[in-house]
Amino acid sequence: MFSYSRPLVHGHRGCRGLLPENTLPAFLHALKLGVDVLELDVVISADHEVVVSHEPWMSSAICLTPDGQPISPGTETQHNLYQLPYATIRRYDCGQRQHSDFPAQLNEPAYKPLLREVLTTVEIATRQLGRPAVGYSIELKSEPAHDGIFQPFPAQFVELVLAVLHEYQVLPRTTLLCFDPRILQLAQRLVPAVATCLLLEADQAWLPSVKKLGFVPTVLGPDFRTVNLEAVTAVRAAHPSLQLIPWTVNQPDDMQRLLGWGMDGITTDYPDQLLALLAR
Ligand code: G3P
Ligand code: CA
Repeated sequence: MFSYSRPLVHGHRGCRGLLPENTLPAFLHALKLGVDVLELDVVISADHEVVVSHEPWMSSAICLTPDGQPISPGTETQHNLYQLPYATIRRYDCGQRQHSDFPAQLNEPAYKPLLREVLTTVEIATRQLGRPAVGYSIELKSEPAHDGIFQPFPAQFVELVLAVLHEYQVLPRTTLLCFDPRILQLAQRLVPAVATCLLLEADQAWLPSVKKLGFVPTVLGPDFRTVNLEAVTAVRAAHPSLQLIPWTVNQPDDMQRLLGWGMDGITTDYPDQLLALLAR
């Protein structure tokens, strides 16, 4: 997608360590910091809008109801985004609650934006800042048990996302990420040139997972805690073109170690820290 002389900095959910995740303020701040790629998650609303959100429901950790009430843990799925029209989703606040894992995060009112709104806002800001075009790592939040309940069936999910990316003409700068191989298989069949990233949980072996996918994706996205020199060497030997971009690396010593093993990029909630490390 891009030709870079150093590993790419992927701002996770924008810059989750600094501003509320998957919101316009987080994406704009990450852009200003100088990230190469914005990582974001998408789900589908009842009226088939592509909504930027990590969960297909309102998380009790970060969301407030339209009348400003917290969401009780255990009742999140009652706020199922796939059963709510986007106009209703937009009335929930997802920026004012302090996330317990991110004490430095600056909170401000924010809502779950549409993917099209993120693309419009980011592309305009890119021109205003006079900075190079940013890449998009768009994770389709999908799992088989959620089909038809918290998400459309995979073919429709992929088509809805691709339609937005085609409309905004950002597909050449986009990688589609997913833990669910079905989504990547469908995307690759529909648009053979699309860049794909197979995400892996910690208990998934790298090479068997690629084999099961049925094609070599552009990127492999393992949990960073599973990265070691032996695994990197084996995957480089088997698939020299496969980029390695682990998630989600938030400590400078981990970043340093992974850079030493030749990662093609790193996904982090603190792109400011990774950029500072790379600038040394
Ligand atoms: O970039 C991949 C990473 O975002 C996957 O984990 O749970 O943060 O979406 P998650
Ligand atoms: Ca993600």
